[in-house]
Amino acid sequence: MRTGVWLVGARGSVATTSIVGARALRSNLTAPTGCVTELPQLRGPALPAFTELVFGGHDPVHTPLAKRAEALAAAGVVPGRLVAALADDLAEVEEEIRPAPTGGTQAERVATVVADLDAFRRRHHLDRIVMVNVSATEPQITPHPGHVDPARLAEALHGDDEVLPPSSLYAYAAFTAGCPYVDFTPSTGARLPALAALAVERGLPYAGHDGKTGETLVKSVLAPMFAMRNLQVRSWSGINLLGGGDGANLAEPAANAAKVESKQRVLAETLGYQPQGDTRIDYVEELGDFKTAWDLVTFAGFLGAGMRLEFTWHGCDSALAAPLVLDLARITAAAHAAGHVGPLADLAFFFKDPVGVSTHSLAEQWVRLREFVTGLHATTGGADAQAR
Ligand SMILES: NC(=O)c1ccc[n+]([C@@H]2O[C@H](COP(=O)([O-])OP(=O)(O)OC[C@H]3O[C@@H](n4cnc5c(N)ncnc54)[C@H](O)[C@@H]3O)[C@@H](O)[C@H]2O)c1
Repeated sequence: MRTGVWLVGARGSVATTSIVGARALRSNLTAPTGCVTELPQLRGPALPAFTELVFGGHDPVHTPLAKRAEALAAAGVVPGRLVAALADDLAEVEEEIRPAPTGGTQAERVATVVADLDAFRRRHHLDRIVMVNVSATEPQITPHPGHVDPARLAEALHGDDEVLPPSSLYAYAAFTAGCPYVDFTPSTGARLPALAALAVERGLPYAGHDGKTGETLVKSVLAPMFAMRNLQVRSWSGINLLGGGDGANLAEPAANAAKVESKQRVLAETLGYQPQGDTRIDYVEELGDFKTAWDLVTFAGFLGAGMRLEFTWHGCDSALAAPLVLDLARITAAAHAAGHVGPLADLAFFFKDPVGVSTHSLAEQWVRLREFVTGLHATTGGADAQAR
């Protein structure tokens, strides 16, 4: 199944690491560490192979992909030997990155993105394209009457208003071009009634939101433990220090608020109450793409005995995110091929703020994911057997 992976934010750290990683896997230059679709429980015939993934995308900046990859190598995020070995691959992908459309009405910008997707599909004889949003986190939006249904939205996009934030405009373009959409960021993306209806109208699946790669991943393992042991979490405070483009963007108060809200969901929804404490995200340029999270949890046990847990997480953000981007593209492509439509709640395992489901326990999410992917393989196995 030849599958296009269209990255919104194609020159960013996560996108560049995903492209370098996928091309290295295709050439057997590295192991699939961190790719859950390569675990024996998930591997199988429904998923497109790494050799079948073709990359393209949009980005407003023009820094060549090879330069971005070299910068990531210098920062210790990807091995320099891989970047050197993959020079031709990166040049090939470079040809498929288009400038993010600007100016004109939003309807005109959608038309440009749709034309870029259609041309990409034709050039590479793709069976399908999955659009994955890995661009900068946006502030939360203000409601607009056009958000309610597809017809009003289509009309509003022809006017002068900025009706949709970029993440949602890309989702609209993806659905218009017949492509599934995955949001790896906390931005609005497909989370508007008009876009949800459009996806259903076009028979397309979508997934999101906000990749679960660090502090929240650990929380989604620890919070269910406190709940299952009937221990009372009294406070949970976390501080995240990070640099890189994501860190710089999250220094903006509005983007920071969107990210913090996405990170906070797991506690209240897992414990059934909100303990005291906040999550903070601070920008420290020196840390680059490496993030440190410190969490302090205070909790009470039998007869009110007070206890505490502390953890420190030092993560390389893009190295944690990139294999999940590849997993999501592969599973979403297979889900589309199998006829799934609407929010892919079974992919909650990957997200801080999953669409279509309120369970945040990693263990429960893992069971759902395994059943879902096993079902995709069974469908493909059946189709293959019929074709034979
Ligand atoms: N790394 C992780 O572990 C992780 C986890 C969860 C979510 N995320 C999210 O993934 C996103 C990407 O992170 P990153 O570290 O690669 O950030 P980055 O700043 O390195 O890359 C973002 C890219 O998006 C581009 N961009 C900005 N506006 C755009 C637009 N309108 N259209 C197309 N491209 C646009 C930027 O030019 C940049 O190249 C962020 O939103 C981040 O919050 C990352």
